[in-house]
Amino acid sequence: MSAPHAVAPAIGLLALTVAAFACSEPPSSAAVPSDPTLTPAVDEDPAPNVLEVSLDAREAVTSYGASTPTPVWTYGGGVPGPLFEARVGDRFVAKFTNHLPESTTIHWHGIRLPAEMDGSPLMQEPVQPGGAFRYEFTFKDAGLYWYHPHVRSDVQTHKGLYGAIVVRGDDEPTSDDERVLILDDVSVKSDGTLSESLDDLSRMMGREGKTLLVNGVPNATLHLRRGALTRLRLVNAANARFFNLRLPGFTWRVIGHDGGLLASPYDAEHVLLSPGERADVMLIPTGEAGATLELVNDPYDRGHDSADSAPMTLARVVLTDDAPLTGRALPTSFSGAARIDPAEAPASLAIALGEELRDGEVVFTVNGQTASDVPPFVVPQGGVRKLEVSNTSEMDHPFHLHGFFFQVLARDGVEVPLATMGNKDTVIVPALGAVSLVARFDEPGRWMYHCHILEHAEYGMMGEVDVE
Ligand code: C2O
Ligand code: CU
Repeated sequence: MSAPHAVAPAIGLLALTVAAFACSEPPSSAAVPSDPTLTPAVDEDPAPNVLEVSLDAREAVTSYGASTPTPVWTYGGGVPGPLFEARVGDRFVAKFTNHLPESTTIHWHGIRLPAEMDGSPLMQEPVQPGGAFRYEFTFKDAGLYWYHPHVRSDVQTHKGLYGAIVVRGDDEPTSDDERVLILDDVSVKSDGTLSESLDDLSRMMGREGKTLLVNGVPNATLHLRRGALTRLRLVNAANARFFNLRLPGFTWRVIGHDGGLLASPYDAEHVLLSPGERADVMLIPTGEAGATLELVNDPYDRGHDSADSAPMTLARVVLTDDAPLTGRALPTSFSGAARIDPAEAPASLAIALGEELRDGEVVFTVNGQTASDVPPFVVPQGGVRKLEVSNTSEMDHPFHLHGFFFQVLARDGVEVPLATMGNKDTVIVPALGAVSLVARFDEPGRWMYHCHILEHAEYGMMGEVDVE
């Protein structure tokens, strides 16, 4: 047993706490499922500032609650794949081997890195079955990131290929308990297999499944200690579902988004995450020991009547009877992201997201073209550009840019304060609306941008920025 990378005392503490709690349970509740936790990667390099891992993609089976096991595609044998934890400045080496029956790459979503390491097919020959690739880069920014394939990403990610990356900086909040929750949904057929069909609805809206997963587990139970300063780090790894989370009776203190902590954390009843987005939230659970709450996923209208669904339960939250901790307080400020000054932008990139019918099939477009037909933008290295992203379709599209953070200047013409939004790499562009963004393109290479509803990306809503 190797020790996990040495920077996660909070997660370790939580695991111990949960274990201790489980031991004190009466035998009758032995069937209570334990919290779904992520498996930390094994660090093969003893040097303190290097996280070196072997990672393979392979077929496996898991249980999604059906009477028969579900065949999945995995990183390292499990869904999700291993959790990578490191510090800003650490070198990361992933020795990747592809044991899948088709080619793939790994994209490190949100991480600023050299373009050849981005897992983008614009920059990397996909890794063939039986082939290998060494990903190597240095973590520049604290935050929660994630990884997934970038070849047939709608199919491959849906089958289970995703995992999380925590990068810690010097400005981390104090917390008693911390955990990473990767959210997903799948549609499991009665024979246990995943439905892979792309019917008209999922071709239009992206694949959504009725089984909601937390760290790969349906009907998850999360044990939270009463009084503990609790940090939950959330990532939406679903192909298309927007999660709109509410814990009745509580508000979330939102302390960070995709690219790190916020200058001005804020309180919210809902945490809305479109595919690809992350949220860093805190709360101090209060209530009766043993009380069970439902973590609710409320309907959210992302267009085309999608709000007609009912609230769903994502997980149950059980308050443990640990002695309440006291004297803790939620954080109120961090140093936050440095402003990218839009006045430095000599030009804007105009990106109009659309949908249209071609030969009877819906396609998704950027400036009226699909994917490889979309002319690349060319930006000199170091250039600052505004991105004016508009949406001519009647549904929201989560816009994702590879390789760079952007900052949201305005949404539908209304100014968005940097202090409560921070650095982002994925943002909802509302149906028939627009967002105004600014980014500094300081790393050379060919970089993708696309809708993170993966079916939309694969069916055309994708373009490229060439930084030279
Ligand atoms: Cu998370 Cu190009 O994607
Ligand atoms: Cu889309």
